[in-house]
Amino acid sequence: MHLGRTTLSKFLIQQLNGIEGATDLGALLVDVAAAVKAISAMTAKGALGGYLGELGSKNIQGETQQKLDVLANDVMIRSCEWGGLVAGMASEELEEPYPVPVEYSRGRYLLVFDPLDGSSNTDVNVSVGTIFSVLRHDQSQPPAANDFLQPGRVQVAAGYAIYGPATMLVVTVGKGTHGFTLDREIGNFILTHPNLQIPIDTSEFAINTSNARFWEPPVHRYVTECQAGKTGDRERDFNMRWIASMVAEVHRILMRGGVFMYPRDTKDLGKPGRLRLLYEANPISFLIEQAGGRATTGQQRLLDVIPESLHQRVPLILGSYNEVARIERYHAEHANGVDRPYTSPLFNERSMFRPEARL
Ligand code: AHG
Ligand code: MN
Ligand code: MN
Repeated sequence: MHLGRTTLSKFLIQQLNGIEGATDLGALLVDVAAAVKAISAMTAKGALGGYLGELGSKNIQGETQQKLDVLANDVMIRSCEWGGLVAGMASEELEEPYPVPVEYSRGRYLLVFDPLDGSSNTDVNVSVGTIFSVLRHDQSQPPAANDFLQPGRVQVAAGYAIYGPATMLVVTVGKGTHGFTLDREIGNFILTHPNLQIPIDTSEFAINTSNARFWEPPVHRYVTECQAGKTGDRERDFNMRWIASMVAEVHRILMRGGVFMYPRDTKDLGKPGRLRLLYEANPISFLIEQAGGRATTGQQRLLDVIPESLHQRVPLILGSYNEVARIERYHAEHANGVDRPYTSPLFNERSMFRPEARL
């Protein structure tokens, strides 16, 4: 009955055939998948596993660490350090990159990951995930922090796991975005969602509206128009979702379209966004583009951002192509001072730039 199903390993052998360094890349992705299976088992045990709750420590970004954040981080490192495939790893939970221990040989890839995304949701039994990005390291010396600062467009592979009612792994090696479902009984990831394509139009958006007072005018304009629905400029009703696990939002968008925004805001001027460039925004944007979607900071294609530091944050807007393009246009119009009057301080009551005054 299971004959003919495409497992992750079989799929990778087929997809990577003929690509230089492919055997190592395939083997690394299989090691990542092994870590994902272990993390899936831990999250699925819930309160019975004794893994829930806070650890009582903070990570480099000042965020409270959950026990599962640290356990998932350790699982990923143990699963990927020994095989001679990576030269080093970097993680949301580690201040500095993790060098491969001297007893293991060094490989030609760098692995960057968010071991548990949406970890505030573990205690409430809502979907969480793991996000990863694979970069090249073609030098013989061990990687320094600078070697990880590569723009998203040069990633060789990226993916995420979602630990929901089913555990799924969604990956790209630059040849489309493909989804696998974990068959728990036999322990294999099976190709169930080949060549995912995000619908180019959508009527569903996701943003944390509790931050509305900190948003920039183009984001206000977009959300206000969505909320106005049929009676507003968009002339149709929109729906809204917010799970607080980016992986789960992105998964929904890959399945049925939508827009996700964690944009630049003025909440903390030291942080240009909420999400981290190297291990959240870059891998997710690679998957989104490979599925026909679009990902931007508002100002530029996300995959073109040149990283400046390991834990750098970035504004992120992604999803259905036409809708993201519209939000980018709103940013450009605002920068040029030609956006709608209610969104721009230039167009206040007393301003000579009021649109009526220019007619
Ligand atoms: P992490 O758990 O790795 O810190 O990431 C959580 C992220 C992301 O998954 C989610 O979209 C966002 O933080 C939620 O932020 P809010 O709590 O501000 O809604
Ligand atoms: Mn995260
Ligand atoms: Mn995390």
